[in-house]
Formats: sequence, structure tokens, C-alpha cells
Amino acid sequence: MSENPTYTIKVNKAETSKIGSVNFDDLPFGSIFTDHMLYSDYKDGAWGDPVIEPYAPMPMDPSSRVFHYGQAIFEGMKAYRDENDEIWLFRPDQNFDRFNKSATRLAMPEVPEEIFMEGLKHLINIDKEWVKKGKGNSLYLRPFMIATGHGVIAAPSAQYRFMIILSPARSYYQGEVKVLIAEHYSRAANGGIGAAKAAGNYSAQFYPTRLANEKGFQQVIWTDDATHTKLEEAGTMNVFFKINDTLYTAPAGERILDGVTRKSILELAERENIKVEVRSVLVEELINAAKDGSLKEIFGAGTAAVINPIVGFSYQDTYYELPKQDNPISLQIKDKLTNIQHKLAEDTFGWTVKI
Ligand code: COI
Repeated sequence: MSENPTYTIKVNKAETSKIGSVNFDDLPFGSIFTDHMLYSDYKDGAWGDPVIEPYAPMPMDPSSRVFHYGQAIFEGMKAYRDENDEIWLFRPDQNFDRFNKSATRLAMPEVPEEIFMEGLKHLINIDKEWVKKGKGNSLYLRPFMIATGHGVIAAPSAQYRFMIILSPARSYYQGEVKVLIAEHYSRAANGGIGAAKAAGNYSAQFYPTRLANEKGFQQVIWTDDATHTKLEEAGTMNVFFKINDTLYTAPAGERILDGVTRKSILELAERENIKVEVRSVLVEELINAAKDGSLKEIFGAGTAAVINPIVGFSYQDTYYELPKQDNPISLQIKDKLTNIQHKLAEDTFGWTVKI
């Protein structure tokens, strides 16, 4: 708890828990939620005391701005239970910072650190039975903010709701991931909201991703909107390419999300003396590398997806299958990262935060 809390968290506990009906071995990502949720409302220029109450639908005015103009942002985080039954967050400061950057970009108010952090910890503590031990298990944390002000004038709302919901999670992708490289559609453009974790960045991807799904690809790797020649991110994940013995990933910037897993991989790789270059890989370069055998691996990285190997990609209707690796760098890095997250390895970076 903060030493001098400004906000008092009000708690109204659920009478019963649904945890007994949940099969923790079969958790389709993001479909089951814990017993409680947290909210804090913003009006008259100030945030109200956070409330924790049973997870339930909430009434909203149909003219709420979020429904009409998409003022909505979110974060994706995880909590892990270690072998000593202690619960840990991974780099929550990074998510908090990015959340408020997203808020600023969407003309929404910043959320005070105390509401975000103490609210998160308090909520997780109440639902702590939902954080299961063991690598591969986590509690996915979804802080978000929506515009709740009424009226369909196209202007920022004066009222908002900050919320946190929690979902027990295992893997995001089931099975192999093949990707399609974007040739026409774009996720983001310079000067747009691509760097924000804004709801609209995800809905913009749904239609082209559905077209990719229909062709048997799980995700799209987006290219720059102006020339479609530079490989950027995969929407639910940042992407890394291993060409010869070097790992490449595009610089986070106006069009690319500054992923927490992405930056942790860069720091880990540096510590492990893995060669890394932060620069855009060209589509042409990738195809040449696939053809001459120097392309060794592609993988996605994100909180939900963790580190997910990509087995092949398609561009202009040609499919390129990646060679199978004996000890892929993606899985070596994943092991190191998840060992830190689950407190199975020493966290020399100071990334983990106890609840
Ligand atoms: C995350 O990795 O937490 C994300 O936000 C991706 C999400 C679309 C599932």
C-alpha cells in the first residue's frame, strides 16, 4: 500500500466463487474472468475512489462516447505464482507508463499511479486463488479505460471509467502459427495511433486478419503503410527475425507498439551476448534470406503470446516454410524470460515486483 493513500479502495466481495467450475487445464485465452473487477470513475476533472465488486455486466448509456468514437485504451499484463506461493508482476511500471501515454494520445485523462498499481495489487490479492503455480500458468491482467460521457458530439468525453479485469491464462495461440505479410492493408500510419494500445488499433486489423485466417494464416505481419516494404509488427505481438546469427526487430516508434516483452528480449539478448540489431527488415531481404537459407527463425513476442515461433510466411501467394531448428533461439529466450517471471531464475534486472 502507498504510505499516504489518496484513494480508499471500497470492496464489495462476491458471495460465492466460480473458481470450482473452471478447468485450469483448458483455458481458451481471455474467455474466463475471476470473481471480481475494479473500477474508478473520472468526472469533474478528478478520479473517484476505486471500487472492487463482483464481476458483472454494467449498465451504460447508449450515447456513451466509447461506443461512437472509440475512445478506449488497454494494457496487457500478467501475474505469476512462484514455488513459495508468492505472487509477482512483471515490469508493471512499463505498462503503467504506456497506459498513460496511450491515454494522452486518445485525449483521455491520465490515471494516477496509486489507482493503477494499488488497485491492481488489491484486486489480485482478492482473487489470488486464480493465480496458479507452474510455468505456463498466469493470470492475465487487463486494465482498460473507456469514455463514459454521454452525447454523440465528436469530441473527447468529460467522463471516463478505468477498470481492471483478470483472466486465468495459458497459451494465446493453439498450434503452429503461420503468417501472411501485408501487401495492401495497414495497421498504422505515421502521425496516427499505432504506438498507443488503443482499441481501434485492434479492430482495424480484424478484417484483414480474417482474410488471412481464411487462407490458413493465424496472423498478419504488418508492413509500413507508405511502401509496404518494411516488416513491422504482428498486431498481437512484436516480431523478431533471426538471419544468420543476428536477431532483428523493427524499432518501436509511431507505428509500432513499444512492447514490454520486446524490450525485455532486447535486454536479455544483450546480457546473453546474442547479436541483435534494432532496424526494419525489408520484405525483399526476408524473401532472399528464406531462399538462400540464411533465415533461421521468425518469432512473435508479447505479453499474451509470450514468445511464439512462426513456422512460415506467405507473400504474394508464395509460402516460405522455415527450417526446423534443433535448439531455436526463440525457445532459449522464452525459457530465460519465463524463468525470471516465475522466479525460477534470479532476476538480475529487477523486473519482478511482489504483490
Ligand atoms: C497482450 O499481449 O497483452 C496484448 O495486448 C495482445 C492482445 C491483443 C491479446
